[in-house]
Amino acid sequence: MTKIIDLSVKEKIYKSKKAQISILNDFRLEVTAGEKIAIVGESGAGKSSLLNIMGLLDRNYSGEYTLFGSPTDQLHTSQLAQWRNQRIGFVLQESALINSLTVEDNIKLPFLYASPDKKGAGEIEDFDTVVSAIGIRYILKKKPLECSGGERARAVFARGIIMKPQIILADEPTASLDVENRERIVTLLFSMNKEFNTTIITVTHDLEIANRHNRVIRLERSK
Ligand SMILES: Nc1ncnc2c1ncn2[C@@H]1O[C@H](COP(=O)(O)OP(=O)(O)O)[C@@H](O)[C@H]1O
Ligand SMILES: [Mg+2]
Repeated sequence: MTKIIDLSVKEKIYKSKKAQISILNDFRLEVTAGEKIAIVGESGAGKSSLLNIMGLLDRNYSGEYTLFGSPTDQLHTSQLAQWRNQRIGFVLQESALINSLTVEDNIKLPFLYASPDKKGAGEIEDFDTVVSAIGIRYILKKKPLECSGGERARAVFARGIIMKPQIILADEPTASLDVENRERIVTLLFSMNKEFNTTIITVTHDLEIANRHNRVIRLERSK
């Protein structure tokens, strides 16, 4: 069993002019490759901050983080960028689509950043599979602003998983979706887990969805 994530946060501090807040105090998380983990907790508990840390988007905290077997404080910028492109799939709340590009080009964007040796093979197949599974073929030629919120959320989701990452970090991926589309997303996440042993980390307020993961982690708001 490969340990894919070994994270130990002492604290994460946000400072603003008026106040300072400290979250994720003594938070520990170890994840084995292929686990499905749900993160729940009230608004402000630090769920999104935690995903930012796990996804190497935020490295400004005290603690230790070993990812894919490497201590992350020793990684070079180029390595971080490559992992964020190829090994980690982001479906974050602030993930925005580029409004001047079609939905199709937005979803294919990660291919563009991939290193030459990762390019090409299987791209079209993967694109087709993902687009069909999420049911968004009908919006591919549209621009994001011509889509509904739920359609945009599904496009963001598609872009996040298109590289078949080893870890998917999804921040409330189903929040703006109707039942049918919610089920499509969850089914696709879990089928990637089954087929490719993808590690799934989902922040959700939906307890029914949370309980379909292997483990549910509850974050409490710092007092
Ligand atoms: N960039 C930031 N600057 C200052 N405070 C922040 C910032 N991001 C988040 N916070 C604060 O950190 C706490 C945790 O936020 P967040 O991780 O977004 O929680 P959650 O996703 O669980 O709702 C909240 O009190 C929030 O206001
Ligand atoms: Mg959040």
